[in-house]
Amino acid sequence: MSSARLEGKTIIVTGGGSGIGETAGKLFAQHGAQVVLADINPGAAERVAKEIDAEGGTAFAVGVDVTNLADNEAMIEATVEKFGKIDGIYVNAGVPGGHTAHGITAEEWQHVIAVNLTGAFYSAKAAVPVFLKQGHGNILFQASICATSGIKGTVSYSASKAGVVGLTYQMAIEYADQGIRVNSLSPGTTPTPFVQKLYTERAAIRGTTAEGDLERTAGSYPMKRLGTTEEIANLALFMLSDESSFITGADIPVDGGFSAG
Ligand SMILES: NC(=O)c1ccc[n+]([C@@H]2O[C@H](COP(=O)([O-])OP(=O)(O)OC[C@H]3O[C@@H](n4cnc5c(N)ncnc54)[C@H](O)[C@@H]3O)[C@@H](O)[C@H]2O)c1
Repeated sequence: MSSARLEGKTIIVTGGGSGIGETAGKLFAQHGAQVVLADINPGAAERVAKEIDAEGGTAFAVGVDVTNLADNEAMIEATVEKFGKIDGIYVNAGVPGGHTAHGITAEEWQHVIAVNLTGAFYSAKAAVPVFLKQGHGNILFQASICATSGIKGTVSYSASKAGVVGLTYQMAIEYADQGIRVNSLSPGTTPTPFVQKLYTERAAIRGTTAEGDLERTAGSYPMKRLGTTEEIANLALFMLSDESSFITGADIPVDGGFSAG
């Protein structure tokens, strides 16, 4: 297999300054993509871009708050200005939300929905006009196992990710005959700063510890372990490459068997 599976492609990674987005951005660059790392934390995105450059790749960083449509439009404009086109967008930025229906405040609910659902939609919406003009484009949303499984203490998060899967199906059908593919990944628990924050919040509600809860979670997976950011990024690489050219409207689990249980 060629070692440059994204040769010549321009790929945006939202939330590219940390965790899965960082690993994916670096992997895409290793496979020949020009990578745009877009993050609400511009310092983090710049660090990742510098590390990619130092490895001989091509990357640039953009500050974006995905909850703001104008920010997403500016991210798209800056990418086209820099690289002349966009082949794909990994809509990955997200925040954890650990709470119950009776415990969550309206503000907490609205924040998680604003970033994970409205933000994901705005990132995709901003890219579509460029994709329509080019006659091709690839949108890969980051959903979660929480989209389709009830998991205690994740009320806003689960609802936001279920919305992302709904967007995947709707947008895939809307644009399937116009050269635009739309899919989502549903990762299982993967240690990142995000997971650390989610588990710390949940442990505070339950009166447990994040470390103990993470160990129990690992034991509940059929493979008896958690995923790695590399394992998620490998699937994203395939989905953003032409190797997946006949796949659209799919939500694909990458979860050590969790969703089969
Ligand atoms: N880690 C997991 O177990 C797991 C499992 C399933 C799904 N996911 C999803 O994967 C994605 C990445 O998660 P991660 O674990 O790598 O988290 P992470 O916290 O390491 O990275 C998330 C990134 O998103 C950025 N971000 C947050 N709000 C933003 C905003 N408003 N605008 C722009 N950028 C913003 C953060 O600054 C951060 O760099 C999220 O959508 C998350 O829901 C993660």
